[in-house]
Amino acid sequence: MLHNPPIILAIESSCDDTAAAVIKGRKILSNCIANQEVHIAYGGVVPELASRAHQSKIVPVIQQALQKANIDKKDLTAIAYTQGPGLLGSLLVGSAFAKSLSLALNIPLIPINHMQGHLLVHFIDDELILTPTFPCLGVTVSGGHTQLVLMHDHDSMVIIGTTIDDAIGEAFDKCGKRMGLTYPSGPQIDKLAKEGNPHRFSFPIPNLKGYDVSYSGVKTAVINFLSNQEQKDPDFIKSNLNDLCASIQYTLVQIILNKIIKVAREKKLTQIIIGGGVAANSEIRTQLQKSAAKEGWTVSLPPFEYTTDNAAMIGIAAYYKLQNEAFGGYSDPSEARLKYGI
Ligand code: KG4
Ligand code: ZN
Repeated sequence: MLHNPPIILAIESSCDDTAAAVIKGRKILSNCIANQEVHIAYGGVVPELASRAHQSKIVPVIQQALQKANIDKKDLTAIAYTQGPGLLGSLLVGSAFAKSLSLALNIPLIPINHMQGHLLVHFIDDELILTPTFPCLGVTVSGGHTQLVLMHDHDSMVIIGTTIDDAIGEAFDKCGKRMGLTYPSGPQIDKLAKEGNPHRFSFPIPNLKGYDVSYSGVKTAVINFLSNQEQKDPDFIKSNLNDLCASIQYTLVQIILNKIIKVAREKKLTQIIIGGGVAANSEIRTQLQKSAAKEGWTVSLPPFEYTTDNAAMIGIAAYYKLQNEAFGGYSDPSEARLKYGI
C-alpha cells in the first residue's frame, strides 16, 4: 500500500553535485547538495574524481536530507534516483545506493531522466512557483544540454529542437575559461556582465533551419577574437572584462531566445518554462520576461535553488511516475546518454 501523500527520497548524482531531497506529495521537505570543489583546479569536471567524491559524500548528504525533513527511513514510500543522462561513474554511485536502499526497505524504486527533472521543478508546490498549464514549451539550458521540449503532460515530453554541438552552459564555461575565469564560469560571467556593455563587441548568431541551435561557432569566434586582440594588447581581456562578459552573454542568450520565439509562434504556444543551470542567468530571465510582454506569453522562471543540479527535481519527477506506478527494476542500467521523447 502506497502512502498518501507519498514521501519520496530522491538522489541526484549525474555530474559533480551529490544531492538528496525528501518530497511529500509535491512539497519539498529538504533539498541538500554537496558541491565538489575538487574540480576547480582542473577548469572542468574530472569524471574519475567526481565518482570518488560522490562515494564519500552520498551517505552524509542522504542523512542530512532525512534529518532536515524530519523523516525516518521507515516512513518512505519510494526511492528515486537519476538514471541518466550524465557521467556513468557518477550515475552508478547514486543508482547503486538507491537500489540497495529500496531493496533493504522493500519499497519501490523510481528511475528518473535528469533532463525531465529540470523541467518538472515548475510543478513543485511552492509559493514562489506559479504552476504552468499545458501545452507548454519547455526550455532546458544546462552544462550538457540545450533542448526545446513540447510538453502536453508531465509525462508527455517531446524534444523538438536541440543543440547540434555544444550546450549553452558549456559555451559560457569555455569562453569564461579562455578569459581566465574559474569553473563553472557561467555565474561569474553573469555577475561581471552587470557592469558591462552588451553591444560593445558583436559575435555571430547562427541561424540554423528548424528548431535546432549551435553554440560551437560562437565559442570559436570568441576564442579567436580574444587571441587576435591579445596580439595587439596583452591586457585586452583584463581591461575589457565587463564588456566582454556582457557581449558574450548577450550573444549566447540571443541564440536560444530567437528559437524560443520561432517555436512559440509556429506552434502557437503561450506558456514557456525554463530549467537547468543556465536558467539562473539574469540576462536569459530578463529577455524572456521582455519577450513575454511582447508575444503575450506566460513565462515561469524557477527559484534559483531549483535551477542548477539538485535532487528536488528528481523528487518531483518521481512523484508523477509514482502516480502512474511507473517503477523501475534492479537490473535497470544507468545510461550516460539516456534519451526521452524523441
Ligand atoms: O544544470 P546544471 O547544474 O548541470 C548540468 O546538468 O549541466 O548546469 C550547470 C551549468 C554550467 O555550465 C554553469 O556555468 C551554468 O549552468 N550556470 C550559469 C549560471 N549559473 C549556472 N550560466 C550562466 N549564468 C548563470 N547565472
Ligand atoms: Zn542538470
